[in-house]
Amino acid sequence: MEYPLHLMAEVKEKNKFHQLEGFLSGKGPTNAPLMLVGEAPGKTEIITKVPFSGQAGKELDNELAKVSLSREDLYITSVVRSRPYRIKKRINKKTGYIEESRPNRTPTKAEVKAFAPLIDFEIQTIQPNIIAPMGNVALKRLLGNQYTVSNYHGQILTQPIYQISEDRSIYEKTDESYTIFPIYHPAAILYNRSLKEVITEDWYALFQLVKEYN
Ligand code: URA
Repeated sequence: MEYPLHLMAEVKEKNKFHQLEGFLSGKGPTNAPLMLVGEAPGKTEIITKVPFSGQAGKELDNELAKVSLSREDLYITSVVRSRPYRIKKRINKKTGYIEESRPNRTPTKAEVKAFAPLIDFEIQTIQPNIIAPMGNVALKRLLGNQYTVSNYHGQILTQPIYQISEDRSIYEKTDESYTIFPIYHPAAILYNRSLKEVITEDWYALFQLVKEYN
């Protein structure tokens, strides 16, 4: 996706004091019927420039293969487009030196808001039939804080979504309705294996929904 330069400049300026690394564009055909919305790229994605190319991506590809969906059928993006990291310092016991690492972290609400114009632009440009927010960060961004994946996964929600206001101060509901199908983030399975069946069931239901729209 090529984002308008004025939006890129705005987002860059808003994030200048946040601990973020790199930039990854959303990817996929502009006529994709399904848009997957993740949280933020991780270390791997910033290097490969391919969304979901790390560990979470392997889990995503497993689910896609089960339901015969290919990445060519999808537009994949996330609510934050740079890698949020934290600075972790620890003493190396062997050398006695302080070592610094920069692991991934969940984006803050301020970062999600700063990137809001980009995801809004993508939704308006792609106009997907179905939007599947993957995980709570994406779901809350689109539908509001009272929505959680554990309560709404696998449900078809037809309703307005939130977009950032013209002056960027608040989120406002869109006039038009969208078809939203919340699912767990592919990485959820890495932390909780018992979600495996539920996640696969949701993917089957999502695949059926995509077929119905075609
Ligand atoms: N998580 C996301 O939300 N996006 C990626 O590209 C990778 C992990």
